[in-house]
Amino acid sequence: NNVFAEMIGEEHGLTVKELEDAKEEALRAHQNILEAEAEGKMGFMELPYKQEEVVKELKETAEELKDKFDNFVVLGIGGSALGNIAVQTAINDPHYNLFEEARNGYPRLFVSDNVDPEGTKALLDKLDPKKTLFNVISKSGSTAETMSQFLLARKFIADAVGEENVGEHFIATTSKDSGYLIEIAKREGMKKFFIPDNVGGRFSVLTPVGLLSAAMTGVDIEELLDGAAYMDKICREDDFWKNPALVNGLIQYLAYKKGKIMNVMMPYSDRLRDVADWYRQLWAESLGKEVDRQGNQVNVGPTPIKALGATDQHSQAQLYMEGPFDKIITFLEVENFGEELEIPGAYQDLAGLGYLGGHSFDELINTEKWATELALNKRKRMNQTLKVPEVNEFTLGQLFYFFEFQTAVTGELLNVNAFNQPGVELGKNYTYGIFGRDGYQEKKDEFENSASH
Ligand code: PA5
Repeated sequence: NNVFAEMIGEEHGLTVKELEDAKEEALRAHQNILEAEAEGKMGFMELPYKQEEVVKELKETAEELKDKFDNFVVLGIGGSALGNIAVQTAINDPHYNLFEEARNGYPRLFVSDNVDPEGTKALLDKLDPKKTLFNVISKSGSTAETMSQFLLARKFIADAVGEENVGEHFIATTSKDSGYLIEIAKREGMKKFFIPDNVGGRFSVLTPVGLLSAAMTGVDIEELLDGAAYMDKICREDDFWKNPALVNGLIQYLAYKKGKIMNVMMPYSDRLRDVADWYRQLWAESLGKEVDRQGNQVNVGPTPIKALGATDQHSQAQLYMEGPFDKIITFLEVENFGEELEIPGAYQDLAGLGYLGGHSFDELINTEKWATELALNKRKRMNQTLKVPEVNEFTLGQLFYFFEFQTAVTGELLNVNAFNQPGVELGKNYTYGIFGRDGYQEKKDEFENSASH
């Protein structure tokens, strides 16, 4: 894409020279990340290598439980849910839940990540409690949404199988030594999996948070981790131009500084649709910060937007082409789809239709992408393409790891802590206060004296 960058020019794009001039900054960021890793602060970088035991246990658990239950329900939110959805969409049959033959003997998967009363009830109403296993995922073990879902699910199960059997229908995925969920799991005799302390929610897809639902639906979790390990080696490269996480982390940073404050991710693949959703949280929560590392008020952060090609060409593309020059668009292009799917030839006498026949859908979706890219370039709109040879566990593991590393790089360049989320915590604390949780009276008072009341 350097050719296109040169074409777009310095005003609205980036030239190779601009990257070359700034690459020392990226290399310093890289150094800082590796130093933080050596101090045990970059837990996500350990995940490809240090999970042999847990992977064994996850696979055994899946083998043991897949025949006992028809439904596997994840209760979690944010980083405790989005990775599960992304893996499911990317790897399994698009109609996995609908058809038994699409599931190969594994249970249906539901990720219940909201507390909308209608959605919540509609799901439980249709499940047979005796054949349903819940995975409650919460690192803090106290998030109001997840714990409310748990309380409801617990009653749903207890009413059907009796108090004494509740524990068999729940798995807790949480912190080993803190929070209420671990306490409950011990009391109820639930199976437990742990989220390492040094891995934050949105970086946790490759911990049991994402791996258990993957294993329970037949996804090869070792391949996911192997893909991440493969990408980790690439991300350790200290030659700037050979390290895509450094190049891309710097591109995103420089684009932001040039006013491209909107960051669109647009896969041309249904399978990668929810990777864009997962990335949206990763990028927003990691980089949107009020203060820099020194505590100065900075209020920075690009706004991530998810789009889907070709669908959103007919929804968003007009804005991307002609609206404000405030976006950088990242396309994900799949080189080999699992299907080619020919477009049948017909209506040869209708020239405006006949031309389609004989081409294939995989050709069409990528042609749509190239056409959009060219049109954006003509309009001097900044864009880049990440090519994915094909979507499978190995490449998905690479993508997760790549974007996590890139986020760490851009966080360093923006001089913010990419691993905390004080804004989210503030919202959580107001909810606790308004709902009457002990210790949060001050938050309740604030609410009662506010305009939101
Ligand atoms: O990335 C994060 O830290 C957050 O999005 C959390 O994952 C989310 O708030 C859920 O938190 P918890 O797992 O503690 O319930």
